[in-house]
Amino acid sequence: MNILVTGVAGFIGSNFVYYYLEKYKDRKIIGLDKLTYAGNLENLEKLTPEQKERFVFIKGDIKNQELIEYIFETYKIEGIINFAAESHVDRSIHDPQIFLKTNVIGTQTLLNVAKKYWEIDTQKYKDGVKFLQVSTDEVYGSLGPTGYFTEKTPLDPHSPYSASKASADLIVKAYHDTYKMPTNITRCSNNYGPYQFPEKLIPLMINNALNHKELPVYGDGKQIRDWLYVTDHCRAIDLVFENGRTGEVYNIGGHNEKENIYIVKKIIEILREKTGDKEINEKLIKHVKDRLGHDRRYGIDPTKIKEELGWEPEIMFDEGIEKTIEWYLENQDWMKRVISGEYLEFYEKNYGGTK
Ligand code: NAD
Ligand code: DAU
Repeated sequence: MNILVTGVAGFIGSNFVYYYLEKYKDRKIIGLDKLTYAGNLENLEKLTPEQKERFVFIKGDIKNQELIEYIFETYKIEGIINFAAESHVDRSIHDPQIFLKTNVIGTQTLLNVAKKYWEIDTQKYKDGVKFLQVSTDEVYGSLGPTGYFTEKTPLDPHSPYSASKASADLIVKAYHDTYKMPTNITRCSNNYGPYQFPEKLIPLMINNALNHKELPVYGDGKQIRDWLYVTDHCRAIDLVFENGRTGEVYNIGGHNEKENIYIVKKIIEILREKTGDKEINEKLIKHVKDRLGHDRRYGIDPTKIKEELGWEPEIMFDEGIEKTIEWYLENQDWMKRVISGEYLEFYEKNYGGTK
């Protein structure tokens, strides 16, 4: 079986490739990625020689219909998992349009090709070309101090990023409702783990702390995110892709809600303990201007995926954050290579030279 996985050179996409090729020894991944600032082929270098034989990388844009058709034609694709996206909220505040192009039009282009191949060869694709859209809990907006997002929570996105992801979700739903295409949507909470680009909270704080740079906490730092170790997300996506009920949405999250300031202090504590470096301390924390339209709290109710598919998180936060910090300590050269000129330009624009 061949599946098309998009966004394979990004954070979750690359972790998924490792997970999937390890689990299914008879399957192949055709990996598509445009290699934007966030895509890094080095993330896939640790595939074994045998896994590399079952992995084909194609550099390209999910908006390129001709290319997607070529991939379907050449590799007899039986399913798509769409990770490819512009994924950073702060970037979407500075420059929304690319988010609409990639996240909405890109998703629709993939759906269109999947539909075409499903229609022209119903024998080969008798169960349809399964399409899994990797979405986010941010489409539900922001919670007050109590309650959780369920799959029935109304969509109420606030940032250009989350609005583009919500729009993509609605297009996926439309292809299911109108054409009866076999689709699923997963909505996961914040991921952390190896290979995350250092514009996101956890790797950014690790990198800054190691370099004795200020740790920029937006506003009061009491915003809450629901953290999930990346391989728990990959396992959930695999389960939904295999066994999810057609047309259904599944929330993914493990009740690991933490305030941002807690995360930053925890990173300081673990890094100081592991490196013995006393300059890594809370004096580095700097409260900076808040993110525009900043969502206060996310919290997932994972009852549906637990009851229907038996999914539960395996890695709790205390274990996951230790593993993550160890990985970044062991891969400081990776971090140095990732921090390119483009990233430093964005850093200056977003933080305005405040640190
Ligand atoms: P990421 O930014 O690390 O990776 C995105 C990848 O997509 C990059 O490799 C990039 O090069 C590629 N890409 C971007 N535009 C493309 C295009 N037009 N064509 C082909 N490839 C393109 O993102 P991530 O954190 O790995 O997130 C992956 C997916 O998971 C996204 O859809 C995101 O919305 C979703 N998600 C992320 C989180 C999280 O906490 N990171 C949580 C829930 C859902
Ligand atoms: O909830 C899922 C989403 O999680 C995904 O859909 C997104 O792709 C992913 O980027 C992530 O979005 P967040 O905005 O929650 O993640 P980020 O790491 O950017 O920020 C986490 C929290 O930390 C948020 O409240 C903003 C805050 N923050 C972030 C940065 C980068 C800071 O206080 N300082 C910072 O420098």
